[in-house]
Amino acid sequence: MLIDAPASVQTSNELPAGGSDPDRFACQEAWYPVFYVEDLDKTKPNKFTLLGQDLVLWWDAQSNWWSAVADQCPHRLAPLSEGRITAEGLLECPYHGWAFRGDGVCDRIPQAPDDTKPQESKRACVQSLPTTVRQGLLFVYPGEAENAANVAVPIVEPLEESPNDWVCLNTFRDLPYDALTLLENVLDASHVPFTHHRSVGNRANAAPVELEVLAADKQGFTGLWAEGPRKGTLGQQHTRFIAPGLMWHDLTSKQFGRTMTVVYATPIRKGECRVFARFPFQFSSKLPAFFIKLTPRWYSHIGQNSILEDDQIFLHYQERYLEAKGGSDRFNQAFYLPTKADAFVSQLRQWVNQFAADPFPVKRCRATAERSAARSLPFAHRPLHKLPSGTGKPEAGTAGLGDRRRNFLGSSSASGASFPLPAVVATGWRGLVGIGQSGAAIL
Ligand code: FES
Ligand SMILES: [Fe+2]
Repeated sequence: MLIDAPASVQTSNELPAGGSDPDRFACQEAWYPVFYVEDLDKTKPNKFTLLGQDLVLWWDAQSNWWSAVADQCPHRLAPLSEGRITAEGLLECPYHGWAFRGDGVCDRIPQAPDDTKPQESKRACVQSLPTTVRQGLLFVYPGEAENAANVAVPIVEPLEESPNDWVCLNTFRDLPYDALTLLENVLDASHVPFTHHRSVGNRANAAPVELEVLAADKQGFTGLWAEGPRKGTLGQQHTRFIAPGLMWHDLTSKQFGRTMTVVYATPIRKGECRVFARFPFQFSSKLPAFFIKLTPRWYSHIGQNSILEDDQIFLHYQERYLEAKGGSDRFNQAFYLPTKADAFVSQLRQWVNQFAADPFPVKRCRATAERSAARSLPFAHRPLHKLPSGTGKPEAGTAGLGDRRRNFLGSSSASGASFPLPAVVATGWRGLVGIGQSGAAIL
């Protein structure tokens, strides 16, 4: 089912993302990006898990659209993602050959006396989910299908204003922590000098970060860092969070033009998410755009991955410790947030709590011991200093900056220092506030 959904500018006729209950954000009732379209293979079923539901994404050549269906054959539940696309453009189950159209209707049962007729029973259909393509991303709507066309797709509005003026680096990766943990991390500008010391940050540049929330409601919030990165030498940085899974920082400076850091956090299942990071630039000079356009995508992917590795071990443990202390519900007791640097973190957690927006909430148990016993996220027993092998293409491996642990422990010989890529490749995450906090010029 392909929906020509409206852009994210809300009108009075639209349904708000998260459903119509003003007190609750229903996570199913929203559009989520699942792949960059350029990474999808039209000749094969593509697999993705969204909010715990296994899906198959496949190109329906009969209707010229991307279909998303449940990854369970209605016959005996074999995964359709292991099947194939037939010459007629059907999704064929690998087990007994039942074949489905893009809208989920079963077109063929080879074992039926007349296997040429579409099967009328609803029980022969596979569940189909609405899809749409915006700004190069395939979005899926996991909620009530009839709502999908009226719910805004979370796009990056500034990119619509003058699409040809932007140069954009894109990357994505599956990460071993929750989408909310990722959002909390990327909204937090103040971690960059320490966490990303010698990759895109510098401890020496840590300073007060006075963040201000300007407006907030069920649909998200806007915020401002009036001083901005690099101790005010670049200008104000604006931040926007569009619930449930999109945020960006937006900075315009004389030195570098306009730079944005855009992050989509798509929940896969509890403890796992897919990050889509986009780095749109409008440089004041033409040279950086020229180099970025020349950079092969796999090359910049390596650079972006290594910066994600800087945070990974912290976030993996942090979310488990928070869960043991009661999760988002009790973030004020679990975290101590005395400075304005954490204003966006607090706002995100307040949004989660006010609108019951955690898709995987911690069980409500009174006693700490009970909460501990109820913990559902296991700690990793494998090294987390490198990203796990991802499911996405291009598969860039895990070429990291080196031994994160040595860096964490403060060794001056941290191999994080030997950033082997041209600075232009690392440009993306610098925008996170960074451009910057390293104090070094981007180019
Ligand atoms: S399980 Fe799919 S055809 Fe039998
Ligand atoms: Fe980070």
